[in-house]
Amino acid sequence: MYNEFAPFYDLEYGNKKEDVDFYLDVANHYGDPVLELGAGTGRISVELAQAGHHVIALDSSGPMLERLRSKIKDRDLEIDTILGDMQDFELPHPVPLCIMPFRTFAHNLSLKDQLDTLYSIHDNLQPGAFVVFDLFVPLHHVLAKTEWSETFTLENAVTCTSLVRHDPVAQRLNIKNQYFKEDDDSPVGMAEYTYRYMFPSEVELLLHCTGFDCLRIYGGFQGEPYDYFSGSMIFVAQKVQ
Ligand SMILES: C[S@@+](CC[C@H](N)C(=O)[O-])C[C@H]1O[C@@H](n2cnc3c(N)ncnc32)[C@H](O)[C@@H]1O
Repeated sequence: MYNEFAPFYDLEYGNKKEDVDFYLDVANHYGDPVLELGAGTGRISVELAQAGHHVIALDSSGPMLERLRSKIKDRDLEIDTILGDMQDFELPHPVPLCIMPFRTFAHNLSLKDQLDTLYSIHDNLQPGAFVVFDLFVPLHHVLAKTEWSETFTLENAVTCTSLVRHDPVAQRLNIKNQYFKEDDDSPVGMAEYTYRYMFPSEVELLLHCTGFDCLRIYGGFQGEPYDYFSGSMIFVAQKVQ
């Protein structure tokens, strides 16, 4: 999904910082090595490694990982990269912490995908280890629509027009981005990806069914309690021994 997105990802999200300290605290608290699933271009992995953590960065997109690998080379960081699928992976040793920042878990588009991912995480965690991830809160007034679009400007004078299609039966949002040079409106690329949105009790049930205790649901990266208007929901769960 992210191969065409790779050249634009850091232009769009490279400056997103509001979750960085939260994941740093999580890594400091729950220990190394830290497994990041869906690590992408390393927005979070690089910050963790720069703070001294050993990171294992797994992603299914070669072009996204290539960008991370060039950052590792430039900065001499301790990050092991794995081209792999979060639904089916095997690490040489179990780890104490798995994180999935910025909605990666929502790229599991079916119940089977969600369960496969959580079982794979469970298999690769040490006893009593933790999984921490964030998702967006599905808002009913937004989901009342089946299609909408927005236009915004990225860095380097690139404009993005984003068309969102909502499938309420599959609980999916399909997003098609078209990128243009701002000065002459010439198209410079496109990217398409899909999220399956989830409600908090659905995620709690998924965690429970796959051998995790859901310890906390935060509504923000400062540890705010979850409520419907939080924007984010952040799950902290522990592997049941
Ligand atoms: C929203 S991006 C998040 C990237 C990074 N974690 C961040 O916070 O900037 C989601 C990432 O998940 C990856 N991804 C999607 N499906 C995947 C799968 N089945 N297995 C592994 N990675 C996957 C994508 O390639 C993409 O890099």
